[in-house]
Amino acid sequence: MATTADWSGLFARRAALRGGDELNLILAGSPPGVLSLAGGFPNPATFPTVVLEEIVARLLRDEPGVALQYAPCEGIASFREYLRDRQELLQDRHPEADELMVTSGGMECIALACQSMVDPGDRVAVEAPTYLGALLAMAAAEADVVGIPSDEEGLDVEAFAAQLAAGPRPKFAYVIPDHQNPTGRTLPLPRRRALIELCRRHGVLIFEDVAYRELSFDGSSPPSLWSLAPDVVLQAGTFSKTFFPGVRLGWAVGPREVVAQLAAAKLTTDQCAGGLGQRMVEAYGRAGHFERQIPVARALYAAQWDALARALERHLPPGCTWTTPSGGFLTWLTLPEEIDTLALRPAATAAGVAFVPGPAFYVGDEPRHELRLSFSHLTEADFDIAIERLAGVVAGAVR
Ligand SMILES: Cc1ncc(COP(=O)(O)O)c(C=O)c1O
Repeated sequence: MATTADWSGLFARRAALRGGDELNLILAGSPPGVLSLAGGFPNPATFPTVVLEEIVARLLRDEPGVALQYAPCEGIASFREYLRDRQELLQDRHPEADELMVTSGGMECIALACQSMVDPGDRVAVEAPTYLGALLAMAAAEADVVGIPSDEEGLDVEAFAAQLAAGPRPKFAYVIPDHQNPTGRTLPLPRRRALIELCRRHGVLIFEDVAYRELSFDGSSPPSLWSLAPDVVLQAGTFSKTFFPGVRLGWAVGPREVVAQLAAAKLTTDQCAGGLGQRMVEAYGRAGHFERQIPVARALYAAQWDALARALERHLPPGCTWTTPSGGFLTWLTLPEEIDTLALRPAATAAGVAFVPGPAFYVGDEPRHELRLSFSHLTEADFDIAIERLAGVVAGAVR
C-alpha cells in the first residue's frame, strides 16, 4: 500500500529563498479575455519562419552530426566566431576567442554569473528597480542584494558612489543600460563613463545586460559598457528579443578569467547550448538576415509604443505618469501614491487587463504604486481597450 511521504525536510534552504510566483504568472500567459501588457515577449510577427524553414531543412539534411549532436561547452567554434564578428559590427570591438562563450539565453548567463561569483551572504548591487529574473537568480545564490537608486536618467551613479564608500564592496553591479527592464530607460553616455570610472576605482565588476540593446527605435544607442571598458565589464546578450526566445541562446563576453569560470559553471547545468539553435542563428546571421529583419522589428516596436502612448494619454486619469522609452518593449507607470498595484491586480484581471505590479522588481522597501507595461505584442485597437480598462480600475481605486 502506498504511504504518503513527508518531503518537508527534503529541500535546500535556497529553495525557500527563490520566490518566482510573478515570473511564473508572466510565463504562463493571461487567461482568455484578458489583454496582457505583462510579458516582455517579442511580437510573433518578427519570427522569421519562412527563412528558418529553409535553413532548418538544410541543417537537418547536410549536417545532422553537428546540429543534432552535443556541442562544446563554450559553443560551436564557427558560431562563436560569428558572435565575435557580430560584436565588432554592433559594438565596435572584437573580443578574443577566450573572451566570449555561448549561453542558453540571457537568463542562464545571469545564473552562471551568480553561481560562479556569489557565496552566500556576498553583496551584489542592482539598479532599483531591475529585472525580476535576475533578482530570482541572486536570491537562489543567497546573495545580499542591495538596490542602487535610479532617477529619470537611470542608475544614480552618485548614490552608488556613496554606497561603495560606506562598503561592503559588492561582487558585481548588475545593470541594464539600454531600454531597461522594467523602466524602459537608457543610461546616457556621461553616466556610463562615470559608472565605469567608479567601478574601476573600487575594483567592482560591472555585469551589463544588453537584452534590448539592438531594439532602439531609431537604430542608435550610446556605446555599450563592455565596448567602453572590456577590462571591468561582463556582458550578457540574448537572441530572445531579436530572433525568438524558443531558441534559448545568448552570449557572455568579458574578461577571460570570468568567462572561463562561467564556462566551468555551465558544465554543471546543461553542459552546452543546443547545437541546432547555434547553427540556425549562425546561418541566419551570416546570410545577412539580421540586418534586414531588425530594422523591420524596430519600426514595428516604435509603432507599438506610439499606439500605447496615445492610449495612455487618452485614458489615464490625472496623477499618473510614465517613462518614454527610446526602444525595447517596456514602460514604467507611476500611479497616485495611495494605489497599491498588487492590491489592484484582481480588479484589473476581472476587468480584462494584465500588468506586472512594481514590487516584483525591487528588493526590500519597495514603492507599491508603480507597475510595468509591455507594448510588444498587442494590436493598436487592443492597446486602447486595455488602457481604458486599466484606467477604469485605477480611477476606482483613487480615494
Ligand atoms: C533584461 C533581461 N535580461 C535577460 C532576460 C532573459 O532572456 P533570455 O530569454 O535570453 O533568457 C530578459 C527577458 O525578459 C530580460 O528582460
